[in-house]
Amino acid sequence: MSSTRATRSIPRVSPKAYEYVNAVLDFGFHNAHSVGMTARLEREFASRMGQKHGIAHANGTATLQSALLAADVGVGDEVIVPAFTVFSTPAAPLQCNAVPIVADVDPETWTLDVEDVRRKLSPRTKAIIPVSICGLMPDMDPIMDIARQRNLIVIEDNAQGYLCEYHGRVSGSIGHLASFSFQASKTVTCGDGGILICSDDALALAARRAATIGFRDLSVRPGATVVPEELRCRPDYKRHSTLGWNQRLPEIACAVALAELERVDELVAMRVGSAEAFAEVVDRCDWLTPQRVPAGYRHTYWTYPIKIERDDVEWSAFHHRFVELGGDGFYGAYSPAHLEEVFGRLTEAIRTHPERYPHWAPYWPDYSPGLCPNWESIQPRIAMLKTNYFNIDDARRQAEILERTIQAFS
Ligand SMILES: Cc1ncc(COP(=O)(O)O)c(C=O)c1O
Repeated sequence: MSSTRATRSIPRVSPKAYEYVNAVLDFGFHNAHSVGMTARLEREFASRMGQKHGIAHANGTATLQSALLAADVGVGDEVIVPAFTVFSTPAAPLQCNAVPIVADVDPETWTLDVEDVRRKLSPRTKAIIPVSICGLMPDMDPIMDIARQRNLIVIEDNAQGYLCEYHGRVSGSIGHLASFSFQASKTVTCGDGGILICSDDALALAARRAATIGFRDLSVRPGATVVPEELRCRPDYKRHSTLGWNQRLPEIACAVALAELERVDELVAMRVGSAEAFAEVVDRCDWLTPQRVPAGYRHTYWTYPIKIERDDVEWSAFHHRFVELGGDGFYGAYSPAHLEEVFGRLTEAIRTHPERYPHWAPYWPDYSPGLCPNWESIQPRIAMLKTNYFNIDDARRQAEILERTIQAFS
């Protein structure tokens, strides 16, 4: 685990957030002109995470959709996603009328299994969305190799993965595009929001158009217009060049996200420090296994996930005892993506009314149990312990409670 030490306590919200929000309020809202904080956030975020352009979005689901639209993913295309993720990842291809293909995870890192990705490639595969689940990056080099060989687009989903590292490269800097979320539980947050970053000028412009109802006059920079006003004001001006939605992030939220980005190292150090407190306890227990962090990776612990190995310790009994002893509670891991009820309902709807789903009916795969056996067997045993503490003593108290919970089952 990283040796970064967290300071003892940090404020819940960056003091700079108040200053930046006031600056926005003082300036006022003027449509495309009041983009100062948006521009700063986009520039600083992209440069910190190793890409050229940033496009702020309303959330980290919309970012994925814009990325896919920018890559021209649509009807008849397949997008490979991991079984262990938030449903936003498979939802994005569905929003583009494409089909998510669910690949299994590695049995120890619980991130996308490259061999299963290879097995699930088809002539229709157009993109892969590897996910930095819980704060650990997948094995990106072979994924990028596959993409190069097959001319695929790779979109990193780093909603949970701030400042993770893969052989010296920071999360966000490897894929053709990379997505981050600013939702309330995330390491950098402004309540809700997200950002897409990339270095390719054409992809960046297409993504910005996808997020801003396809306005012709957009440029890769926010607020910049490439069509002179004397043309834009004319009644025969055609404003919308491509299909897009409105996924803009309000400047007030950008101001908060910018302030939080500026202290991202401190926020990450707090999460890693909290995880270290749990790890000390888990390392002494032979029936709890943490997510394996391969050599050369940095895990930044959006949560600290552990697997309960003992068959005689039920997840709910473990949870119950932890909470009873004063623990903050924890979540189970997300159900395997392909087994979410939504796929069952869509499968049934497509089977009974194929004429209503002509974009999916010929391509719809089987989302039955057995598709991702690793994750299907691991998922019921996972506990995702919280790491979003702003005072390291709070995390240490939780770690002590975890230790007493373990003792209760010994
Ligand atoms: C892995 C992953 N992808 C995508 C998202 C979607 O982000 P948002 O909630 O901002 O839409 C989340 C957030 O929950 C996530 O954890």
